[in-house]
Amino acid sequence: MVIFKHVVDLRKYMSALRTKSAKVGFVPTMGALHEGHVSLIRKAKTDDTFVICSIFINPTQFNDKSDFEKYPVTTEDDIEMLINAGCDVLFLPSVDEMYPGGATTVRGYDFGFLEQTLEGVQRPGHFHGVGQVVGRLLEIVEPHYLYLGQKDYQQCMVITMLVDLMGLKGLNVVICPTVREQDGLAMSSRNRRLTETQRSRAGVIYQCLVSIESKRESSHFSIVQKECMDLLSTKGFEVEYVALAEADTLQPADDYLKDKAMVALIAAKIGGIRLIDNLVF
Ligand code: PAF
Repeated sequence: MVIFKHVVDLRKYMSALRTKSAKVGFVPTMGALHEGHVSLIRKAKTDDTFVICSIFINPTQFNDKSDFEKYPVTTEDDIEMLINAGCDVLFLPSVDEMYPGGATTVRGYDFGFLEQTLEGVQRPGHFHGVGQVVGRLLEIVEPHYLYLGQKDYQQCMVITMLVDLMGLKGLNVVICPTVREQDGLAMSSRNRRLTETQRSRAGVIYQCLVSIESKRESSHFSIVQKECMDLLSTKGFEVEYVALAEADTLQPADDYLKDKAMVALIAAKIGGIRLIDNLVF
């Protein structure tokens, strides 16, 4: 695996690669890699792409300073994991490399409604930062395939919209299933920060999502929502939302809609660590 830290070197390498007509698959990450990330790299390999992964903890997408400061950094382990997964190139830029004239000089995008619901409300400015960094990465890497994990459901929608706003018609956005621990907890870099007790309780988020799905024929959503909020609180979670929405648009729904794909979404904090998850049905 080749590692690049500078945009100019990566661009040179990529343009040489393009002359060989290689299909490029891109997996953007913030490091602290886990099996979820590895599954994206494996998918890129099965699609027969030349795989580029980036690790960059993007400061502009953190609305909470302490979340940024505590974000796990495990670069040596990440590199080993990427080599084992068969990644071809790692892009490991500094903040100056990504935002050479400062963050305000990098283009932002308007994601409309997606910035005004759920994560957009709970994390003001978050998607602006995601748009900035992913936009810049896509301009640098110019991939044919972009691999994202469904765990960040709203982010997947934002990035799909970004690709559209940037007019990247030849870019395929591939959304891959959430990878879960045995108790259902969605793999996330933030899970590393959980204490043993917090970790032992965290499976309750998935349990709630499963119960939301299983009661779609038998209950009004407001009843299931209340049960989930109570259960999460009992386990020590501070609940931000337990929500139901139309899967295609993220339009909030008060109750289950027949004949429509729905998505249940949860965001909750335990010991200050914010976890999100979702289930489509
Ligand atoms: O999901 C993430 O890890 C980040 O939001 C992303 C897409 C790498 C942008 O910084």
